[in-house]
Amino acid sequence: MARYSSTTVAETQPGARPYDDRMTAIPATFRAYVATRGDDAFERGVRQFAETDLPPGEVEIRVAWSSVNYKDGLATREDGKVARISPLIPGIDLAGEVVASADPGIAVGTAVLAHGYEIGVSRHGGYAEYQRVPANWVVPLAPGLSPRDAMSIGTAGFTAAMSVAALEERGLTPPDGPILVTGASGGVGGTALAILADRGYEVWAATGKADEAARLVSLGAAGILTRDEVTAEGRPLDSERWAGAVDAVGGATLPYVLRSLRTGAAVAASGNAGGMKLETTVFPFILRGVALLGMDSVNLAIARRRDLWDRLATDLRPRDLGMHVTEVTLDTLDQALDGIVAGAARGRWIVRVEE
Ligand SMILES: NC(=O)c1ccc[n+]([C@@H]2O[C@H](COP(=O)([O-])OP(=O)(O)OC[C@H]3O[C@@H](n4cnc5c(N)ncnc54)[C@H](OP(=O)(O)O)[C@@H]3O)[C@@H](O)[C@H]2O)c1
Repeated sequence: MARYSSTTVAETQPGARPYDDRMTAIPATFRAYVATRGDDAFERGVRQFAETDLPPGEVEIRVAWSSVNYKDGLATREDGKVARISPLIPGIDLAGEVVASADPGIAVGTAVLAHGYEIGVSRHGGYAEYQRVPANWVVPLAPGLSPRDAMSIGTAGFTAAMSVAALEERGLTPPDGPILVTGASGGVGGTALAILADRGYEVWAATGKADEAARLVSLGAAGILTRDEVTAEGRPLDSERWAGAVDAVGGATLPYVLRSLRTGAAVAASGNAGGMKLETTVFPFILRGVALLGMDSVNLAIARRRDLWDRLATDLRPRDLGMHVTEVTLDTLDQALDGIVAGAARGRWIVRVEE
């Protein structure tokens, strides 16, 4: 039972913070999926978590949905090198309803999401029935975007939208030519494909999964490239093919993208699912004016983050929103966390937290 739930902390005690005076809407204990690193053991699984072990924050959220991102897979592995605290409630994104707030701009009952910054890495995240976060990390959901929708997009889909926005802010338009999306069966890639196709681009999808081709074409892909085609060793410059690219794979794929971009084109690069080492020459940059645009969704300023989420509810709304998702619960999370690191993503996994 909640000990405090009907009004905001700010309404009852101006300036008070839920964690200061123990006025909290969060039950004394609640269910959470927790990863714990001991001296010689690593454990993960569902257990009761104490409200008093949550960090401070002005906004308390009853989590309805979270999702599974590549980083979550790493945060829940012994060799993942992502988790910064132990025990950690992982889950780099979450969506639900505000149950207490010390911020006058965020009312109790508001549907919100939170992701990025320290969430799910150095501060507890979305795999829990309740979470407490700083007010300036909270994104109120735009009309037409439910908490389930928001987590169907999740951090991966948000990064896809960020990538498309970055390319377009640099001047990219559909008549410029074909766009390449790599890792297309995954979260970032699949959402980028859906958004770009809806905006009228000719999008080509690179995938390591031949049996995903039909789904990717149904999402809007004009053509498919195999992973071998985009990871093969090549000359310092290939023939100019792509007017732009979205890459969340890195590794051996990003060098191919760079050397096959057209003069003046850019790639929005966000990930390392295929490896973190980048071996390239400087020729794409100095002979073709190609640009490598780094995407960092973690540290993005909150105003820009809120704007992009508003656009995800409107002109950047993925055409397959809520469709290519597999639901898991806190009790069945393990398979998704292991699957995403193994490169087995087909769309996105979302986590139903609310029973
Ligand atoms: N910079 C940021 O802010 C940010 C935000 C979100 C995600 N990311 C990063 O972006 C990457 C993708 O994240 P995601 O959540 O979209 O993951 P995901 O759903 O697992 O998608 C990654 C896809 O990459 C492809 N891939 C290519 N080579 C691979 C390999 N050797 N091992 C595994 N997968 C390989 C696979 O698609 P195909 O089989 O279709 O090729 C896979 O489905 C991750 O590195 C993640 O950390 C960064």
